[in-house]
Amino acid sequence: MGLLSILSLFLPFGFSILSGSSSSVRVDGNNCTVRPLGHGHDDVPNILYAVEKCGQTAGGRISLPAPYTYRVNQRMTTHLEGSLLNIYGALFFSDDINYWVNNSYRVDFQQQSTAWRITGHDYVVDGGPHRGGIDGNGQLWYTWAKGGSNVFGRPMPLHVLNSTRAVLRNIAIRQPQFWAVLVESSSHIELDNFYVNATNSDPDATDDTQWIQNTDGIDTYRSDNVRITNWVYEGGDDAVAFKPNSTNIYVENVTVYGGPGIAFGSLGQYPDRYDIVENITVKNVSFQPSFQRAMNSGIYFKSWIGVNYGVPPNGGGGGHGYVRNVTVEDITFKDVQLPIYIDTCLSYLFNENVTQFCDTSTYRFDDLRFRNIHGNGLATPTDYTGRNITFAVSLICSEAAPCTRLAFEDVDIKLPEWYTGNSVLCEHADVKGLTCNS
Ligand SMILES: *[C@@H]1O[C@H](CO)[C@@H](O)[C@H](O)[C@H]1NC(C)=O
Ligand SMILES: *[C@@H]1O[C@H](CO)[C@@H](O)[C@H](O)[C@H]1NC(C)=O
Ligand SMILES: *[C@@H]1O[C@H](CO)[C@@H](O)[C@H](O)[C@H]1NC(C)=O
Ligand SMILES: *[C@@H]1O[C@H](CO)[C@@H](O)[C@H](O)[C@H]1NC(C)=O
Ligand SMILES: *[C@@H]1O[C@H](CO)[C@@H](O)[C@H](O)[C@H]1NC(C)=O
Ligand SMILES: *[C@@H]1O[C@H](CO)[C@@H](O)[C@H](O)[C@H]1NC(C)=O
Ligand SMILES: *[C@@H]1O[C@H](CO)[C@@H](O)[C@H](O)[C@H]1NC(C)=O
Ligand SMILES: *[C@@H]1O[C@H](CO)[C@@H](O)[C@H](O)[C@H]1NC(C)=O
Ligand SMILES: *[C@@H]1O[C@H](CO)[C@@H](O)[C@H](O)[C@H]1NC(C)=O
Ligand SMILES: *[C@@H]1O[C@H](CO)[C@@H](O)[C@H](O)[C@H]1NC(C)=O
Ligand SMILES: *[C@@H]1O[C@H](CO)[C@@H](O)[C@H](O)[C@H]1NC(C)=O
Repeated sequence: MGLLSILSLFLPFGFSILSGSSSSVRVDGNNCTVRPLGHGHDDVPNILYAVEKCGQTAGGRISLPAPYTYRVNQRMTTHLEGSLLNIYGALFFSDDINYWVNNSYRVDFQQQSTAWRITGHDYVVDGGPHRGGIDGNGQLWYTWAKGGSNVFGRPMPLHVLNSTRAVLRNIAIRQPQFWAVLVESSSHIELDNFYVNATNSDPDATDDTQWIQNTDGIDTYRSDNVRITNWVYEGGDDAVAFKPNSTNIYVENVTVYGGPGIAFGSLGQYPDRYDIVENITVKNVSFQPSFQRAMNSGIYFKSWIGVNYGVPPNGGGGGHGYVRNVTVEDITFKDVQLPIYIDTCLSYLFNENVTQFCDTSTYRFDDLRFRNIHGNGLATPTDYTGRNITFAVSLICSEAAPCTRLAFEDVDIKLPEWYTGNSVLCEHADVKGLTCNS
């Protein structure tokens, strides 16, 4: 293509081809349109310029059109008030591991890191009819952190922070570096029609975890009133996780391929914190393995041991609080190793000094209801406690804080035919609708 035809592609849109910080932003009233600089140049300054011009007035609009790819070579915080951010193209995060490990934003939880924060109120982020969004360039992180859990500095690509009344929809997040989405200190947030896929193609990744730990779909933390609807998740960790202080959360129509499923936790990790998870509905979710990852569990609850042992992210314990008023309904399991469980003996420091503290947790589980749940479970490799964990439902509550009001209705989970042991296991649990230890 000659220079003139390149010019004619750009000029009708009013873009300048001169290089410079705002040369690829067209500002038209409250509408800002960003075009990428190309050649690996950082598009963050132009995106921030557009957000400043069009992101903070009611009716403002920022467009990152398809089919363009925008380079994110540095961390960014976009503050939106009353505006619309259209990402029909894709944000592509740079491969500078040293930069990200040293410069990502830090989160006040498990020493986590994030790369792109959205703050503000009454905003919409929309990926459009073909789901634009994010390419986290995650492969290099999967290989870099191979086999390690919670390796410091892996940044999350989408961090909804200090936000009220926001809608994020029609967004694809491919190859997230770490958890795909974190919603923190926010309320009245709707996340609709998301596609998250973390797949490891490193040929050396042959162990059964495939090195895609910590590629959660979405975690909620210190947030209230969040709706998570119409998601597809494939990866190696929790599709959805409710972290401390997740309240009034509604999850519906999620298809999960691989990983441990939907997590309540981990909770009670910090002895000086009080963790509340309350008023949660999880509805119409299906779980099955992916082509590269087993489905380790379905719906599960995990609280730390009752004493503080080791330091976060992978040690801790002795925290307080409760999970209360949870409804789980219309669930399908296909080949899920341990479909439903409660574990009140959590620590990731696997050794005999930890297991002696099972039964010490005072973290409480109360009023959990399960309805219309069907499918099949599989045998699970024996865990580090030596327990045989081939069960459909395992409810191991702490002696120091027995679980109360666990109700099951229309739950039918088949186990392998060769298995003749119990399909339900309970300890210190007040259960209705299932026969314990049967
Ligand atoms: C901004 O874009 C919207 C949608 O295309 C359009 O309706 C509106 O007129 C535009 N405003 C300006 C000032 O160009
Ligand atoms: C972080 O920065 C230091 C110097 O400030 C550097 O030595 C180190 O290699 C960087 N990267 C990582 C991953 O720590
Ligand atoms: C988020 O809110 C907290 C508490 O108000 C404040 O300290 C912090 O600076 C805010 N962060 C951002 C990025 O706005
Ligand atoms: C996730 O991505 C992998 C690799 O591209 C693909 O094989 C798989 O089908 C995708 N999963 C879903 C649910 O789209
Ligand atoms: C459920 O989610 C899938 C995947 O996002 C979507 O294709 C389907 O239309 C959704 N169903 C309803 C009833 O919205
Ligand atoms: C329930 O889930 C199925 C399969 O994932 C989906 O096709 C259907 O649209 C969902 N229904 C609703 C009401 O979300
Ligand atoms: C959770 O909320 C309660 C009640 O507002 C508060 O006391 C507690 O400190 C919060 N915990 C965390 C981890 O933010
Ligand atoms: C339980 O939570 C649901 C919303 O998920 C709410 O409608 C209901 O009132 C709550 N019940 C109690 C007893 O708090
Ligand atoms: C849970 O829902 C009930 C009923 O709507 C409400 O009274 C209570 O405040 C909610 N709890 C939290 C933590 O929001
Ligand atoms: C467990 O604790 C004992 C006594 O403090 C110590 O000698 C031993 O090394 C610990 N074991 C592990 C695996 O940390
Ligand atoms: C677990 O149960 C299976 C099937 O009954 C059995 O083959 C296996 O030996 C058991 N493992 C343990 C540790 O009890």
